[in-house]
Amino acid sequence: MKAAVVSSFQSAPRFAEFPEPVITDEDQVIVDVVAAGLHPRVRSQANGSHYTSTEELPLVPGTDGVGRDDEGRLRYFVMPDTTLGSMAERTAIDRRRSVVLADGSDPVAVAAAMNPAMSSWVALRQRIRFDEGSSVLILGATGNAGQMAVQVARLLGAGEIVAAARNADLLARLPRLGATSTVLLDGDDGADRLRAAAARVDIVIDYLWGEPTEEAMVAVVQGRADEHQPLTWIQIGSVAGATARIPSAALRSTRLSIVGSGQGSVSPSEIVAELPALAEEIAKGTFEIDAVAVPLSDVEDAWSRSETAQPRIVLTPGA
Ligand SMILES: NC(=O)c1ccc[n+]([C@@H]2O[C@H](COP(=O)([O-])OP(=O)(O)OC[C@H]3O[C@@H](n4cnc5c(N)ncnc54)[C@H](OP(=O)(O)O)[C@@H]3O)[C@@H](O)[C@H]2O)c1
Repeated sequence: MKAAVVSSFQSAPRFAEFPEPVITDEDQVIVDVVAAGLHPRVRSQANGSHYTSTEELPLVPGTDGVGRDDEGRLRYFVMPDTTLGSMAERTAIDRRRSVVLADGSDPVAVAAAMNPAMSSWVALRQRIRFDEGSSVLILGATGNAGQMAVQVARLLGAGEIVAAARNADLLARLPRLGATSTVLLDGDDGADRLRAAAARVDIVIDYLWGEPTEEAMVAVVQGRADEHQPLTWIQIGSVAGATARIPSAALRSTRLSIVGSGQGSVSPSEIVAELPALAEEIAKGTFEIDAVAVPLSDVEDAWSRSETAQPRIVLTPGA
């Protein structure tokens, strides 16, 4: 069969032959892949930099997708960490890590949105205690995951939703999605704006890390209207850096807790438990989703497009 094949972590996947999937236990099923999203997580899988990488090659990337099972039903699935991912004509999925999609679901929209939407959905529903009316700050709000986080926070009943990012044009779109205020992080006075806007936030959803988070954390902590109000900082993405220097005073002077949300800190069963409800919201059209379908045969070209591409690229093997 044809697949996107990674033979070296230094180069993009190529459209090439790869052995057919083989079923190894009764929970597995082979699906014809219909759509697979090119998420940042998939890029890091394909270049060997993700923390789950075993460095085994060749591999077919793709951490999730939508496929048609042997009974003709469309399923959204999350892949196990093996060398055969979702960017292939066919793949072997674990039935228990999949959800049958409602009739009329758009496979491209589902493949584009589940990964970025799950990041905030799971964090708010499984990783921390989230009370309706809580105020949320989203750092890196203009990316695919950030835009979904604005919409997820609104759906789950957040009060204030402060959206912060460095891209002014995209930031201007976020009030329409549910942001109650926006903060442009660029420029000398970015931190001052954040200090004022985030004085009462309860939860930070952080896709940035690195220097922007160092600056943001100092601003948010210094700007607390009430230093006794709990502040839960959820580390989810690291587009701006893998490490960040956290000032010790930030943890002593306020009720700051830092937690992470992702594969490992959230168990597979907790992730799987959230798939049906989120897939249902996507199928219902609850969220605005920015996606573009690209034939799997154009995978090399798709890889060379901007790493922070908006809309989200979705590879379609059947096209
Ligand atoms: N833990 C989880 O469960 C989970 C799940 C999904 C995603 N993630 C992670 O979340 C992060 C975001 O994913 P995504 O799907 O939103 O990616 P994306 O669509 O590619 O968006 C990335 C965003 O980051 C911004 N950005 C890049 N470098 C920046 C910097 N130095 N300072 C400020 N902004 C910067 C880009 O803004 P510009 O337009 O300004 O370039 C873009 O808006 C990734 O690290 C991803 O791996 C985690």
